[in-house]
Amino acid sequence: MKTDIIPGMDLQPTITQAFRSRFGGPPASIVSAPGRVNIIGEHTDYNDGLVLPMAIDRAVWIALRPRRDRQVIVHSLDFEETAKFSLDNLHKGKGWPEYIKGVAWAMQVERLKDSPRGSARGVEGWEGVVTGDVPKGAGLSSSAALELAAARAFATVSDLEWEPVKIARLCLKAENEWVGLNCGIMDQMISAAAQAGHALFLDCRSLNFEQIPLPGGLSVAVLDTATRRGLVDSDYNERRDQCEAAARFFGVRALRDVDMQAFEARASQLDPLTRRRARHVIYENERVSQAVAAMRRGDVKTLGGLLDASHASLRDDFEVSSPALDSMVEIARQAVGCVGARMTGAGFGGCAVALVRAERVQEFSIHVAQEYTRQIGLTPNVYICQAAAGASLFLLDALERLC
Ligand code: GLA
Repeated sequence: MKTDIIPGMDLQPTITQAFRSRFGGPPASIVSAPGRVNIIGEHTDYNDGLVLPMAIDRAVWIALRPRRDRQVIVHSLDFEETAKFSLDNLHKGKGWPEYIKGVAWAMQVERLKDSPRGSARGVEGWEGVVTGDVPKGAGLSSSAALELAAARAFATVSDLEWEPVKIARLCLKAENEWVGLNCGIMDQMISAAAQAGHALFLDCRSLNFEQIPLPGGLSVAVLDTATRRGLVDSDYNERRDQCEAAARFFGVRALRDVDMQAFEARASQLDPLTRRRARHVIYENERVSQAVAAMRRGDVKTLGGLLDASHASLRDDFEVSSPALDSMVEIARQAVGCVGARMTGAGFGGCAVALVRAERVQEFSIHVAQEYTRQIGLTPNVYICQAAAGASLFLLDALERLC
C-alpha cells in the first residue's frame, strides 16, 4: 500500500501552466481536496450514524494568488468558464461557482460571528484556476472536493487556521444552505480529514473519528456504471424525511439512537415502508462497526460479506439502487479476486465499490468492464483507487521540489 499519495499530482503542471498564461505570473500556492468512495455506512450520516469512507487519489486542484480588492476570479479548465464575484456582494446563481461562493459565504458568516464587532472583514479574495479528475456526478463527491479545495484557498489567503472538523462543518453549511442540497457530513469530513492509506471511521453525531488502516493485499476498485442521476432532487430528501418519521416513531433524536433489539421489539407496529427504511439504517450502523472490527483483525472475508449485505439492504429496504448498479455489483462479485461489492454514495446511478485481492485486480477490472458492457450495453469506467490524504496546501516552491 502506498502511503505518500498526493491526490491528482499529475494535474499540478497543467494547472500551474494555465495559471501563468491566464494571470501572467506564477501562482502563490496550490491547494487540492480529494473525492471519496464510501466503503460502508450508506445513508447513515444524516441519521447521526456511522460511516467508513476513504479519500481517493482523484482530486480538485486550485492554483491561486491572493487579491486585496475583495474579488474572487476563478477560471475552470473543465467547464471553460470564468466566474467573478465580490465578497461584499454575494448573490446566488447556478453551476459550479456556487460551491465556491457558498464556502465564501459560510466562512464569512463564521468569521464575523467569532470576532469582536467590526474587527474582522471576513475572508480575503483570490484569483485562480481550478481543475480536477474526480468524475462529476458519479457519486464520488466531486462537489465536496470543490468545496474543500475552495475552503483551503480562502483559509490560505485569509490566514485562517486549518481545522478539518470546523472546516467540514462550514462546507456542509455551504452545501445545505447555499447550494440547497440537504446532504449529511460524510463527504466534507472525509475530504477534510483523510489520512493516506486509511479509511475514516466517523461518528456523524460527535464527529469523532479514527483512521483505520486498509488491510494489506486488498485493492479498492470503483466501478462507474456510466449511469447518472442528479442528487439535488426529491429522492434523497424523501429518504431523509422517512428516516426522520421513523425516529419520531421511536421517540429519539435520530435513528442512530435505535439499536437492533429496540427496532425488532417494535418493528411490527411501523408501516412497511418506514419499517424497511429504518431497518436499513439501524442494521447498516451495526455493519459499519463490524466492518471496522474486521479490518482491524485483517478478516477480509467478513469485511466482504458485510459489503454484500449492505448492498442487499440498500437495494431491498432503502430502495436506492438501480438495475445498472445491481448488475455491476453482481458481475463484480462473480469475478475473480472479489471479496465483496456494493453500490456506493447516494445511489440511483453512479458507482459501485469492490474490494479485490490485489494480485487479481487487473484481471478483475478487465473482466468486469467487458461483462458489464455485454450485459448492459454501456462502457463503464473502473478506477483502482489508493487511499489519499485530505485537503492539502502546497506552496509553489515546495511543489517544484517535489516534481
Ligand atoms: C451523498 C451525500 C452524503 C451521504 C450519501 C449516502 O453522498 O452527500 O452525505 O448521505 O449520499 O450515504
